[in-house]
Amino acid sequence: MRALILVGGYGTRLRPLTLSRPKPLVEFANKPILLHQIEALVQTNVTEVILAVSYRAQQMEEELVHEAKKLGVRLIFSHEPEPLGTAGPLALAREYLCASDDPFFVLNSDIICEFPFKQLLEFHENHGKEGTIVVTKVEEPSKYGVVVYEEDGKIQSFVEKPQEFISNKINAGMSMYLTSLRQKHPEQLHSGPGIVGNVLIDPTATIGKDCRIGPNVTIGPGATLADGCCIKRSTILKAAIIKEHAWLDGQVLICIVGWRSVVGRWVRMEGTTVLGEDVIVKDELYINGGQVLPHKSISTSVPEPQIIM
Ligand code: GTP
Repeated sequence: MRALILVGGYGTRLRPLTLSRPKPLVEFANKPILLHQIEALVQTNVTEVILAVSYRAQQMEEELVHEAKKLGVRLIFSHEPEPLGTAGPLALAREYLCASDDPFFVLNSDIICEFPFKQLLEFHENHGKEGTIVVTKVEEPSKYGVVVYEEDGKIQSFVEKPQEFISNKINAGMSMYLTSLRQKHPEQLHSGPGIVGNVLIDPTATIGKDCRIGPNVTIGPGATLADGCCIKRSTILKAAIIKEHAWLDGQVLICIVGWRSVVGRWVRMEGTTVLGEDVIVKDELYINGGQVLPHKSISTSVPEPQIIM
C-alpha cells in the first residue's frame, strides 16, 4: 500500500523552530513528527510513502533516506516547483497514487495521534465510497475547519472557522502523547528521585544532581541539565544545555529550548517561551514568554512576551 504525506508547508506557526528545520522534522517526544507517522504506516503494511515536498526539500531528503532504509520503506519525493497548497500536491503525485487500484492514505505532516490506520482502512473498505476522513473533537471549533456530517457519518459539508456552533469535529487529531505512552509503554518513561509525572529522557542526555523534572517534559539526545535544575511542562531539544539551578515552566502550554541552545545559571523562564536553534540566555535572567529567533544571545530580562529578532 501507499501513503502520501503533505510535508511542503512553511510551518509558520511553529517559528522560530521551523526557521532551522521543516516542521515534519521537528521532534515531538524526541522523534521527528514525520517518523511517528511513517513508523505507524509501516506497521499497517505501507511499503511506499510519497512525500509531497516544497519548503526545504533537500534537508528533508538528506535526513530521511537513512531512516527509511532502517524501516524498510521506499520514499518517493514529489517535488513542487512552487508550493501547491494542500490539494495541488495530490494531483502532482497522481501517477504514483493511481499506479494501482489500492486505496491510499493521505496525511498532513503535523498530526500526532493513535494512528488507527487499520480501523480506518477496514471502515473505508466496508462503506465502499470514494474516501474516508479522520476527524477529532475539539473544545473550540471556531478556530478550525469543521466537518458537518449525517448520523451515519456521511459528510455533508466543510465549514472553515465557523462563527456559530455547527459541529465539534475538526479534521485533525492530537492526543496527549505522553499520557498515552504512560498507558501503552510506561517503560519508555523516566522514573526515580526528582521525577514528577510523565517525563521522557533520551538515554544520551546528561542529568545533574538534585534536578526536579516533570510533569510533561521531554529531554532530547545529548542535552545536558546541570545540577539543581527545575523543569516543568517543557521540551528540551537535542544538544541543548540548561545550566545550574535554571527554572523552566511552560505553565498552561510549553517552554521549548531549541537545538544547541544554552540557558544560563539561575535563569527563570516561564509561559510559552520558544527558543530557536543555538540561542544563548545569559545567567540570572527572567524570560516571561515569547519567541527568540535562532542564533540570538539574550542579555537582558524579557518581562513580557515578545518576539526577539
Ligand atoms: P502553518 O504555516 O503554521 O499554517 O503550517 P503549514 O505550512 O504546515 O500549513 P498547514 O498547517 O496549513 O499545512 C497542513 C499540511 O500541509 C502540513 O503537513 C504542511 O506541510 C502541508 N502543506 C502546506 N502547504 C503545502 C504546500 O504548498 N505543498 C505541500 N506539499 N504541502 C503543504
